[in-house]
Amino acid sequence: MRNDQTQAAGTPAVVDLRSDTVTRPTEAMYARMRTAPLGDDGLDADPTACALEETAAAMLGKAAGLFVPSCTMGNLLAILAQVQRSEQVLLEAQAHMLHTERGAATLTGAFLYGIGGTDGAMDLDRLEDALRPGASPLRTAMIALETSHNAAGGTVLPEAHMAAVADIARARGIPVHLDGARLFNAATHLGVAPATLTAHVDTVSLCLSKGLSAPVGAVLAGDGPVIAAARRLRKMIGGTQRQVGIVAAAGLEAITVMGARLAEDHDRARQLSDGLNALPRLSANAPQTNIVQVDLGRTGRDSARWVADLDAAGIRTRPLGERRLRLVTHRHIAADDVVRAVAAFRACLDAA
Ligand SMILES: Cc1ncc(COP(=O)(O)O)c(C=O)c1O
Repeated sequence: MRNDQTQAAGTPAVVDLRSDTVTRPTEAMYARMRTAPLGDDGLDADPTACALEETAAAMLGKAAGLFVPSCTMGNLLAILAQVQRSEQVLLEAQAHMLHTERGAATLTGAFLYGIGGTDGAMDLDRLEDALRPGASPLRTAMIALETSHNAAGGTVLPEAHMAAVADIARARGIPVHLDGARLFNAATHLGVAPATLTAHVDTVSLCLSKGLSAPVGAVLAGDGPVIAAARRLRKMIGGTQRQVGIVAAAGLEAITVMGARLAEDHDRARQLSDGLNALPRLSANAPQTNIVQVDLGRTGRDSARWVADLDAAGIRTRPLGERRLRLVTHRHIAADDVVRAVAAFRACLDAA
């Protein structure tokens, strides 16, 4: 079955566009998981987790890596390891770390300050303003970037923007962290290796369980002392796991094999967006990667109603506020699923 999901005979598979996190492990991942050498990662290291950490660090051009249960924990540890209480982190105003991960602000004692911007990129003048002596009573201890940018519809930071932020930060001795949950999507869009982008940052969190299809986990990469500190902190917050090589094995497959197919997801997102833009009263972003945002403002129905109506037609979506939907393409979305999704939108519009 294409979607690897349980399905009654004769029933069309559900087209699940809620997120790329719904992706199931590949057969190659299951094969690696069955044969992975295992150890106790809390006692004296798990060899497969170590292999994942070393491989990911090398691919990201960093000295060391740390396997963590989630990208949220990777971002949290990056802050805990580098930012003291009552210091601040500057990041784009719609950043996932600021808006969704709340723990970074509530658990660390650091203040997260959002800088306005466009398409997920901070306005550089405003960033420099926020860094002027006296602009804040708090010392800025980190600047954080996000690419691709979730809330901005999967937009990709231009490499020149990342370089400019790095210049601003380095001139002041401030480390730059990258929330690279979908870094491989960003690199695919730009046609560069992930390490080309991470050369502009000091630490990076890379999620394995989104488009890369691993069931669990993320890697935080950076220089040796920061990752050693993050490793100690991971234990304190309960993120150290035992025979974790079982899931790290899938992560190894994810980073070494699965990045190569992400362009397909981006193509499907563009087909979806084009199909929706051809319908009356709907407008969708022109996606750079795998996230489509659909504006429902002219349809006379709110997002909750759209989600329910599409769900009844076997198309699963998520609301983005009251007037928009978020659709994400991934490995289980084939070309005919896009056609089905667009047809369901059309039928809902006709039924209104
Ligand atoms: C940009 C971004 N950062 C971080 C995360 C958190 O990832 P996780 O679910 O692995 O904690 C997400 C999840 O959607 C995300 O989109």
